[in-house]
Amino acid sequence: MCGIVGYVGRSEAAPILLDGLRRLEYRGYDSAGVAIVNGEHVETRKCAGRIAELGKLMAEKPPTGTYGISHTRWATHGKPTDQNAHPHFDASGKLALVHNGVIENYQALKDQLLQDGDDNFTSETDTEVLAHLIGKLYDTSVAEAANAGSNGNASAQLPNNKGRLVEAVRTALRQVIGTYGIALVHRDIPDFLVGARRGSPLVLGVGKEENFLASDVSAIVAYTRDAVYLNDFDVVAVERDKFEISSVAGQAGNYQLSKVEFTDADIKKGDYPHYMLKEIFEQADSVRDAMRGRLSPEECTAKLGGLNMTPAQLRDVGRVVLTGCGTALHAAMIGEYSIEQLAQIPTEVEYASEFRHRNTPMTRDTLVFAISQSGETADTLGALRESRRKGYRTLGICNNVASTIARESDGGVYMHAGPEIGVAATKSFTSQVAILTAIGLLLGRMRHLSTSEGTRIIEALEALPSQIEDVLKLSDQIKAIAKKYASVNGMLFFGRQFNFPVALEAALKMKEITYLFAEGHPSAELKHGIIALVRPDLPSVFIAPDDAVFSKNLNNIEQVRARKGPVIAITSGTGADRLAKIADDIVSIPIVPDYVSPILTVIPLQLLAYHLAVELGRDVDKPRNLAKSVTVE
Ligand code: G6P
Repeated sequence: MCGIVGYVGRSEAAPILLDGLRRLEYRGYDSAGVAIVNGEHVETRKCAGRIAELGKLMAEKPPTGTYGISHTRWATHGKPTDQNAHPHFDASGKLALVHNGVIENYQALKDQLLQDGDDNFTSETDTEVLAHLIGKLYDTSVAEAANAGSNGNASAQLPNNKGRLVEAVRTALRQVIGTYGIALVHRDIPDFLVGARRGSPLVLGVGKEENFLASDVSAIVAYTRDAVYLNDFDVVAVERDKFEISSVAGQAGNYQLSKVEFTDADIKKGDYPHYMLKEIFEQADSVRDAMRGRLSPEECTAKLGGLNMTPAQLRDVGRVVLTGCGTALHAAMIGEYSIEQLAQIPTEVEYASEFRHRNTPMTRDTLVFAISQSGETADTLGALRESRRKGYRTLGICNNVASTIARESDGGVYMHAGPEIGVAATKSFTSQVAILTAIGLLLGRMRHLSTSEGTRIIEALEALPSQIEDVLKLSDQIKAIAKKYASVNGMLFFGRQFNFPVALEAALKMKEITYLFAEGHPSAELKHGIIALVRPDLPSVFIAPDDAVFSKNLNNIEQVRARKGPVIAITSGTGADRLAKIADDIVSIPIVPDYVSPILTVIPLQLLAYHLAVELGRDVDKPRNLAKSVTVE
């Protein structure tokens, strides 16, 4: 989704801004631009399309200057055109602004500006309206000060132009309904940036004689690892060697300087052709890291101190609600099965986008988990806020440590999966499932699970990293299967119990990066309609490990075979032998208890989507129309 990078320092801004935008590329966008101030000029380059195009524009006529702002835009208001690309200017053409988020009342604000005689709009965006509004307030304030000065009036002591610009930003933002992360520069105020946020992330990177603004710290981690994660309603005035944080209301702000958890090296592709493949192959480590220090063989349970709950509070939990979007929602569905099986606590999964807008009946003893890799997904954040507003204990399961969800929740569990750059989530899914299993173990051990049952669960979790390594060795076999089916128009995915959500996740991966039609269903639903789709050119993928429901899956596989549908089976144990004459292709993985099975079964399916997408020549890490972190509703 939209990205912001701003720079003020002693170096040329252009290469730093362009490099920062490239690092945000994975988040998804459809146009890009920069504005760099060079004395009397604000040099702007912007265009629809990829950052490579912007790079060409900048190479043709390099903008010079040591402070500026830049942006990648993911279209919401107005088509992805050159005109609608950010930065946008105020009516004077001196103030340039980039903006993430949505200004819901932009039409009303625009009407007011039009009424006041300002009709110099060149785009269809809500952002340009905000630029005009701030510019108008600033110009008025400067003119008033000039008049007061020439009249010898005492109010000539008004703040300088930096203060006036910050005040104009505050006054404008108080009129805004909606969400924003913004950065702006003004031609008349050298070496000065202003940033502000509400609902869209913004981080200040603190360097030596240089400072940065970015919507995602990965854009600037190559330059500094000292960061201030701004809070909603913060306004920051940034100069080379200082910064000042205040609130939209005008109060002095508190802030904390943090060390960024990862380094520039962690966000490099290394020898892998794509981030997605790198992240698939990192899963042995990321699952190990999700468990590190959290399993206690002595007490036969999980230790999750970040939940910030006493044993008595944990024992009193009577109901669990798991909420999230996309892949996180699928992990939540597996969490529902684990928590109900291991702890026997009624658990429900709610799409964050639904949960936040409906009045789900909740009991006093409900514990809510908001699950989000990025910790910035607007719907999940909305669900978290709604739940907290109603007074429920609301915890986060996040990867991004400094994210808004992590900071606003009452506690939670960090995934420690490392940066996930590929738009299609992979390692965050397996980490989420591992953590939800640990939560099931913890809650179960406070209830009916014996020490020996607890030990068995810990052993199953600890065995996963080496089993994941074994599954990853199947990558070439899966690549061959992908090649074999490269001309199909779509795929169906089926699974039962813990592997039903894996069918949904596999279909999502397939859709996201191959753009093929794909659907996931509980295997038994086949006969309730889906079977009408079965035909020789539409393969069905069955996730059918050697478990209690294997024979049920077998029946469904036979139903597909009888209608000449090709079958790819992901199985384990004796499954390979039993499927030998029925399935066209068999991928055999280690046999494990049902509650950890998804962590292994999903990997061949991530690889299948990946290899098929590569075979089809798709842009695997930046699939069309998708964004890594969806910060709009
Ligand atoms: C977007 C991404 C998905 C992701 C979902 C939730 O739709 O494309 O891959 O699963 O957001 O993201 P989150 O960061 O909240 O886990």
